[in-house]
Amino acid sequence: MKNIKAIIFDAYGTLFNVNSAAEKCKEKIGDKWEDFANYWRTTQLEYTWLRSLMNKHKDFWKITEDSLDKSMEVFQINSSMKKELLDLYKNLSTFPEVKGVLKKLKKKDYKISILSNGTSSLLRQLVKSNNLENLFDDIFSVEKVKIYKPSSKVYDIPIKKYKIKKNEVLFLSSNTWDVSGGGIYGYNTVWVCRNKNIFDKLDYIPKNKVANLKQLLDII
Ligand code: LAC
Repeated sequence: MKNIKAIIFDAYGTLFNVNSAAEKCKEKIGDKWEDFANYWRTTQLEYTWLRSLMNKHKDFWKITEDSLDKSMEVFQINSSMKKELLDLYKNLSTFPEVKGVLKKLKKKDYKISILSNGTSSLLRQLVKSNNLENLFDDIFSVEKVKIYKPSSKVYDIPIKKYKIKKNEVLFLSSNTWDVSGGGIYGYNTVWVCRNKNIFDKLDYIPKNKVANLKQLLDII
């Protein structure tokens, strides 16, 4: 791919498996663990969009906790599990191919970074607990602009730091709405379609689609 200067990854769902916290508790939660995990994630995202529209920013960790409270009530999960779930969320696992791909990318001549809703400290902890330190040039958090994706203010952050053009970014996300957000903003996008999802109908079609990050190495 020509003219790409920075490869930028979304974090949650793209590098880190957001369902891995509930999955690690599946013995205790029972069969509903996956529906519960999906509901928690959807509620968390809805709260980011609602707070952005209402101009009532609250950081991603607090939103993660608020959305967990609601999800635990809806799924009638004993409140004694809250701390365990939150601790696991702080240390989500990566998808299996992530580290190997990042190591290969590091040898190439791109800026490699994360651009995420997460707070800087949450993201640093995730990177550290998965031994990914030194593989990123930057970890960009929305906390710099205090509004969530898909606000263009968020996608502006790396453009300003690297002083590059929008189309010199290759942005990867598994979240369809984030691919649309970045793409409509002007990034080149790669949809990391991990779960055979259907893409959104938001008047944007991503240029590239991969099933996992390994396939990225074939298209750059
Ligand atoms: C993030 C969410 C959108 O990491 O996955 O920004």
